[in-house]
Amino acid sequence: MKNIVILISGRGSNMEAIVRAAQAEKWPARIAAVIANKPDAGGLAFAAQHGIPTAVVSNKEFSTREAFDAELQKTIDKFAPDLVVLAGFMRILTAGFVEHYAGRMLNIHPSLLPKFPGLHTHEQALEAGETEHGATVHFVTAQLDHGPVLGQVAVPVLPGDTPDSLAARVLVEEHKLYPRVVRQFVEGHVGINEGVVRINEH
Ligand code: GRF
Repeated sequence: MKNIVILISGRGSNMEAIVRAAQAEKWPARIAAVIANKPDAGGLAFAAQHGIPTAVVSNKEFSTREAFDAELQKTIDKFAPDLVVLAGFMRILTAGFVEHYAGRMLNIHPSLLPKFPGLHTHEQALEAGETEHGATVHFVTAQLDHGPVLGQVAVPVLPGDTPDSLAARVLVEEHKLYPRVVRQFVEGHVGINEGVVRINEH
């Protein structure tokens, strides 16, 4: 059994999709913990209701990124993670933290990377006049939203779209993409070696 630790900051709908898929599809993995950097993160309640250990490491209680990341790392490592999944975890991470989880930390970003790294991706896509938008799952590396890509999903941008309507269309697909990639990882079908992604579906 592989241990997955999921980090959230808010509603946690991607975390929820991963928890549900892991249970329904009987992955060789357990969700060992859900950890939030905000005490009021909505997803914590869902995790607790599903018997998943939860923890909060509140960034507000730390005066530096280094101190916060050190405490977060300590908390994560109590659960002996094979994989750390960032699911709407809204923090810029220090290089040391990223290095500690090299090759075993994933993120989902709501754009077709390398387009639109950073915040407000749906607004950015609309302003740029894109006809397609989407989401990307990638390994986390020191450069924000730039790690090697493991999977992407695209949706059309429709006439009259607002950032919210576009976000909702992307989110539906995120909930399929992220569980699929996490499952491939825990089943040993994807990995990374010296910065090069290895994908082996069979
Ligand atoms: C998702 O759109 C994800 O791609 C982005 O933040 C949002 C988090 O939503 N990083 P949720 O907390 O998983 O519902």
